[in-house]
Amino acid sequence: MQDSPISIDYSLSMAEGVGPLGGLKDEELDSERAPFVTAHQNLMAQVSSGALGFWKLPEQKDQLREVREVAASLPDAGSDVLVLGIGGSSLGARAIYHALSGPLELAGIAPRSHARLHFPDNSDPWLLAALLDALDPKATIALCVSKSGGTVETAAQLLVITRWLESALPADEVRKRIVAITDPKAGILREQATAQKWATLPVPSNVGGRFSLLSPVGLLPALLAGADIDDLLDGAEHMQKRCATTELRENPAGLLAAVHVLQHRLRNRSIHVMMPYSDRLRPFAAWYVQLWAESLGKRVNRQGEIVELGPTPIGAVGATDQHAQMQLFMEGPRDKLLTFVRVAEPGKDLIIPHAKGSTSYLGGTTLHALLEAEREGTTQALAMDGRPSLTISLQRLDAFTLGGLFFLYEAATAFAGQLYNVDAFDQPGVELGKKLAYALLGREGYERTAQEIRALQAKRPKRHRVD
Ligand code: PA5
Repeated sequence: MQDSPISIDYSLSMAEGVGPLGGLKDEELDSERAPFVTAHQNLMAQVSSGALGFWKLPEQKDQLREVREVAASLPDAGSDVLVLGIGGSSLGARAIYHALSGPLELAGIAPRSHARLHFPDNSDPWLLAALLDALDPKATIALCVSKSGGTVETAAQLLVITRWLESALPADEVRKRIVAITDPKAGILREQATAQKWATLPVPSNVGGRFSLLSPVGLLPALLAGADIDDLLDGAEHMQKRCATTELRENPAGLLAAVHVLQHRLRNRSIHVMMPYSDRLRPFAAWYVQLWAESLGKRVNRQGEIVELGPTPIGAVGATDQHAQMQLFMEGPRDKLLTFVRVAEPGKDLIIPHAKGSTSYLGGTTLHALLEAEREGTTQALAMDGRPSLTISLQRLDAFTLGGLFFLYEAATAFAGQLYNVDAFDQPGVELGKKLAYALLGREGYERTAQEIRALQAKRPKRHRVD
């Protein structure tokens, strides 16, 4: 197998590195070997039966052709693209776009050779209203991404965008500018797309929203933005092969999962901090937070017993958060396990000029070396106080490595679900919130729920308000 650009150093999550109060003993990690074999077998059984689709996405190279065909059919694919979706239907594509675009392109300062992507994922009209004022409907494409096809935020945005396009373009032109990425057969969006003759791409029915970025959900936006989608899938496939072993300490995703679960269970580290030392990975941290939280925070275990468990993920970025959240991580409750992500080759770097006086020690070093020193200093300072961390090293930040990093965390989440004994692939809590929102918006069939909510609202005591 080709050398991997991704390595994990877990020495500072072990007792040998940080002492027994914050670190795991070797025998504790080894005691998770047998449960991990079972976890791996369970997952692979779901993969083989076809119930679980995300694992095989990196191998499914046919999707690349389908995605390219749809991209080629779009007019003005070099201009603006609105990605309408929320949660798993938005965060992954945004993370890819941010990691692989230049900062000036992202800020709109440099001209782009590929499409400019926008992610108005919230129902807050602030961003979408501004975009509609600024963009030209004759040079904008809308990708509507919804696995279920019924998510209210996305449905509402699609209605707004369709009307906006219709106000400037004939029906035939509008049709060419909307792509629906949704379940291959089911759902309102699929019905709409068929009726309106929009181009479509599938979110395979056995792939859930937050595990879907290596499907057309991430691939089409990435392609339109100029990313190398072959490399993205190849990098993911390379990682998938590394995760095929049942030997815990050799399986990068299994190891990540086991260290997090054991640190939670045995050392009370229930808060899992993702802290890349890279501006390009800020949205990756947001993607991780959603994946970890929505997959692992559950009321019931796989036997249906009430457990109400789950780690709390937090996103941070180095070195910026050394001047914000780090004080808490360093001196607050001993309930955190930090993961640092470093990028060994930064690309363009800057040399700090020599100067006399108190900053003379900086002269001749680079900004990247400074960032590395800050990360290493922080890691060591935590370790000296017995606070555990992991460090993931990325050789460079390109599509191949990014594909591997995404797959690593998807697989780690799936293994962690098994080790926590919860279903990592459902989200009943989110579904309830969606239903209550439908009721409040007057959707047919939800009248009784709406009445119940109004009764509860009326009961909220006025005396507990400050106006
Ligand atoms: O991961 C998930 O399942 C969720 O975050 C969904 O992606 C999110 O709720 C949006 O759902 P949908 O893609 O069905 O519109």
